[in-house]
Amino acid sequence: MKVRKAVIPAAGIGSRMLPATKSIPKEMLPLVDRPVIQYIIEEAVASGIEDILIITNRGKGPMEDYFDYFPELELRLEADKKYDYLNSVKRPADLANIYFLRQKETRGLGHAVGRARTFVGDEPFAVLLGDDIMKSKVPVTKQLIDAAEKYGASAVGTQAVPDEALARYSSLKIEALEENIYRVTDMVEKPKPSERFSNYAILGRYVLTPDIFDILDGLEPGYGGEIQLTDGLKKLCAVSPMVAVDFEGVRYDTGNLKGYLEATIDFALDHDETGEWLREYLKSKSELL
Ligand code: G1P
Repeated sequence: MKVRKAVIPAAGIGSRMLPATKSIPKEMLPLVDRPVIQYIIEEAVASGIEDILIITNRGKGPMEDYFDYFPELELRLEADKKYDYLNSVKRPADLANIYFLRQKETRGLGHAVGRARTFVGDEPFAVLLGDDIMKSKVPVTKQLIDAAEKYGASAVGTQAVPDEALARYSSLKIEALEENIYRVTDMVEKPKPSERFSNYAILGRYVLTPDIFDILDGLEPGYGGEIQLTDGLKKLCAVSPMVAVDFEGVRYDTGNLKGYLEATIDFALDHDETGEWLREYLKSKSELL
């Protein structure tokens, strides 16, 4: 199973990050030196993905500009011999073949992924949620692709989440296949305590077969009156194999302020330009706390 295509739903309005996201797409907020969306694209590319469709909505134009060339700026940087900056502004446009499609209606994650049908065609594909940033040794999407290939199955990324957080996610019914890989037999989106199958929630990464599109087309609105991807996957795992990969890595929800700050600090601690300085800075602050 060769997975060459990825879909990134990025049509949300960023309400948990207002007012910063009033006129900037939440995907364009910087994490240290790059916008959040670039980390997602880099993970996809490092996992072997060549073609990427970003599902957008009104007001996401700056994302399209970011993944394009900017000749006036590039000429200026070249003339000034600022080659590091020059490379960094050209890089996003060279990462992959990036396509954009507007969702047009706000009808949920399942509806957004459903818009990718023509782009995906008849191939398995990855889905990477725009808010979920991963820090891992092996790209999380690659971990899922490897498991999907091994088991001839679709795959979802998972980790156990605390009881009190589960209602914000989804809950998987699973049976162990090996240490960190499980067979998925059922699931529920935003579970009430009585509906929980386990503390394993889907966290932002999927490898799906194109069978999902017919299922999504026939779905009724679910939680929150929206077409839920999880409701589609519940049907998919009933008719074809699906595995859950308890992935190695840390997941950050950059769509809320605390998750965004955690990611900023952790990535800045790892960054060549800022790591050492930030460590000293945090030490000096911790003395005052
Ligand atoms: C979405 C999915 C949910 C998943 C969560 C975290 O929810 O519907 O199943 O657990 O992302 O990746 P949302 O954050 O859009 O409410």
